[in-house]
Amino acid sequence: MSAPISTIAEIGKHEGQAVTIRGWLYNLRESGKLLFPQFRDGSGVIQGVVPKNAVPPEVFDAIKELTQESSVIVEGKVRADKRAPSGYELDVSNVQVVQRVSESTPYPITPKEHGTEFLMEHRHLWVRSLRQAAILRVRAEIIRAARDFFDGNGFTLTDPPIITPAACEGTSTLFPVDYFEEQAYLTQSGQLYIEATAMALGKVYSFGPTFRAEKSKTRRHLTEFWMVEPEVAYGTLDDVMELAEGLLTFLVKRCLERRRADFQTIGRDVGKLEKIEAPFPRITYDEAVQKLQEGHSQGALENKFEYGGDLGSPDETYLSSQYDKPVMVHRYPASVKAFYMEPDPQHPELALCVDVLAPEGYGEIIGGSQRMASHDLLLQRIHEQNLPEEAFQWYLDLRKFGSVPHSGFGMGIERAVAWICGLEHVRETIPFPRMLHRLYP
Ligand code: 4AD
Ligand code: MG
Repeated sequence: MSAPISTIAEIGKHEGQAVTIRGWLYNLRESGKLLFPQFRDGSGVIQGVVPKNAVPPEVFDAIKELTQESSVIVEGKVRADKRAPSGYELDVSNVQVVQRVSESTPYPITPKEHGTEFLMEHRHLWVRSLRQAAILRVRAEIIRAARDFFDGNGFTLTDPPIITPAACEGTSTLFPVDYFEEQAYLTQSGQLYIEATAMALGKVYSFGPTFRAEKSKTRRHLTEFWMVEPEVAYGTLDDVMELAEGLLTFLVKRCLERRRADFQTIGRDVGKLEKIEAPFPRITYDEAVQKLQEGHSQGALENKFEYGGDLGSPDETYLSSQYDKPVMVHRYPASVKAFYMEPDPQHPELALCVDVLAPEGYGEIIGGSQRMASHDLLLQRIHEQNLPEEAFQWYLDLRKFGSVPHSGFGMGIERAVAWICGLEHVRETIPFPRMLHRLYP
């Protein structure tokens, strides 16, 4: 194979010339003395054309015998073809079979429909399907865009630890770790640590894996997920609501600019994403409750929402399907939220917090708040919630040495990907999802 190597995505640059592509057989059609092998290489798919009389017999036979997902290096001439999805076809002249998949163990994922369990069990192969690969490209784009957004707005990336001595988001959902005979846990959120780095650097963010051990089976729940969390010294709840709005519009715009082809592969209605512009509606928890109760009396919600409770999945789904933009629900009762949230000075029973619910029924993708600035009140909350005071000494220190109002939020990458791609379930948004009863592969 002497022709220059090209990816399928960039093959248009070589129109009329011979190229070498390195990939896998995606599909093979035969029509009389013609073979139509489709090759994929991770960047795209291209159809090859192989007339029997145009190539040496051994090349024709090698291609004819190719099995799905056999690895191949192919040489051929690039020809523009308006009907081809990629715009090009390859007139194949030579092939080198790197590894032929044996007929005795054929590739298990065929174009026919497979059940979810089967696909999850074969996730290491399922990621090769065009749709799954497109989702992973959108995920990568969202991650890159989130970093660009914070890097470009004066935030410094500071990485919190993953092994921690205490809970951030409630003690019932911790994964224990035996840390040289000391009790430790996998982090639920980097927040407490980036509150410390925000006092050092002003505007910071973290981006890393986080863990939740609740035995939840909803389509929004992973036990291991990635969270991006900004934290702003002197920032108020209003400031971080604006920041969340800025981040989400930036992410959607970036994906629309760069990932159109992937959205098409996924079958995403991009018209819905094109409506995502600031400002987003902002409603209080009280207003949300009113809407939920109306929804119930109109028969759209099974259960009557009782004032004072946290929103459940069906409540979020109902609320977020009322808008074609993300809706920001703020000021929940402090009793249903985390210990570190600042009370609303006007209504101390409410917390200065916000949940951002994505439209189309996706529900919460961002949770954030203003953090408690008072040392004494924070210590009281730690006691009320039976949290181990020793483990929080350093966190209390932040309220002794130049305490300031500060705020931040966390966005779950997988929830954002599910919404932006329009997926049913978060399990398709991460290469190898970890869920209740799912630890393999
Ligand atoms: O609302 P959460 O629990 O907030 C926090 O952890 C704060 N400490 C963040 C902060 O203020 N810095 O989680 C934040 C986001 C959720 O809105 C959701 O997008 C995602 O993390 N998330 C999950 N994603 C997938 N599976 C789970 N089990 C998730 N739990 C939370
Ligand atoms: Mg939350």
